[in-house]
Amino acid sequence: MEQVLKQQKSDPAIAEILAGYRLPPSIPFGTELAPVMFRADYRGGRWQAGGLVPFGPVAVNPASTALQFAQQAFEGMKAYRAGGGRPVLFRPNLNWRRFARSAQRLRMPAVPAALFADALSSVASSLARFIPAGRGQSLYLRPTLFGLDAHFAVKGSDNFAFVLIASPSDAYYSKPIRVMVERINCRAAAGGTGAEKVGGNYGASLLASENCVAHGFDQPLWLDPASRKNIEELSAMNFMAVIDGGLHTPALSGSLLEGVTRSSLITLAQRQGIETTERVMPVDELLRDIKTGRCTELFACGTGAIVAPIGTIGEADGTKFELPQVNRMSSQLRDALLDIQQGKAEDPFGWVVDATDLNGLTRYIEAGVSR
Ligand SMILES: Cc1ncc(COP(=O)(O)O)c(C=O)c1O
Repeated sequence: MEQVLKQQKSDPAIAEILAGYRLPPSIPFGTELAPVMFRADYRGGRWQAGGLVPFGPVAVNPASTALQFAQQAFEGMKAYRAGGGRPVLFRPNLNWRRFARSAQRLRMPAVPAALFADALSSVASSLARFIPAGRGQSLYLRPTLFGLDAHFAVKGSDNFAFVLIASPSDAYYSKPIRVMVERINCRAAAGGTGAEKVGGNYGASLLASENCVAHGFDQPLWLDPASRKNIEELSAMNFMAVIDGGLHTPALSGSLLEGVTRSSLITLAQRQGIETTERVMPVDELLRDIKTGRCTELFACGTGAIVAPIGTIGEADGTKFELPQVNRMSSQLRDALLDIQQGKAEDPFGWVVDATDLNGLTRYIEAGVSR
């Protein structure tokens, strides 16, 4: 915090921007962009020191590898306002590790733990007073890395920009969503980048998502790209089902994203004595389990929505199955998770970390997988 305050003092432009900033009366999830961001560049084979800059468009060459070849990766995380107005982060070590994996897959230099921590700490601390403190409200954080070099040959950049942008956001309360089994298109390829958080995966999902809305659903439910028989995930959330009272979720297949929320809910469910199973989940078997009543509840989970109950699952031909239970286990798990994230319950797993203590945050992130 001290360092950030010093930085703000030493940069009157940033201090002035923050002094003049007001939260708008309504802050739907992910629409309001905070007035400052963090930027650091990779040049000459090394990361340069970064710092807070005014939020605004960045100059990108139209021939850059980011735009031409989608040499890009990003993360999605949240800072919450804990007791006393302190911003806290939730398991940032997992986002850092995933960000590094995504960078490596796209042949980009990983952002070092200390730089990642500096970005998080600078942005969350400087915006602390703009983090809304209501239930489920947060400062959504979007670390983004992209290639800057301009050339038409299919090869990567040598120069990169890392930016961390932020969005003060209201809780994302979705009414139960309707998912359509997507049997034609895939969001990821076998051997592709589905397990990484890179823009190309999302671009590949857009047309099918629109098609799904035209069929009266909200989102596609993606199947595995090799056999198109097994459930993978939604476009920005992992998938969970309650079957015979236990929690089932698709095992990590190499083409679906290992969600921080997914992993946290599995741990919380186990702590509540719920049996959890990560396995191959054939979609036709799941539909049979819904028909016979073995499967009683479906939901999706991710940083943005935390938990989104699924009320209906169906097909492009108009077949629809309604779930007998909506929001039973899902609301129980959502509450348990939010209570820890917002400091309302004990944090037995050491998942929450103070964003204002840069050294502590760097050590926490460097500890990597051990938490
Ligand atoms: C494709 C995809 N699956 C799952 C998730 C959920 O991941 P997390 O819980 O880390 O937000 C996300 C969101 O980042 C996503 O984009």
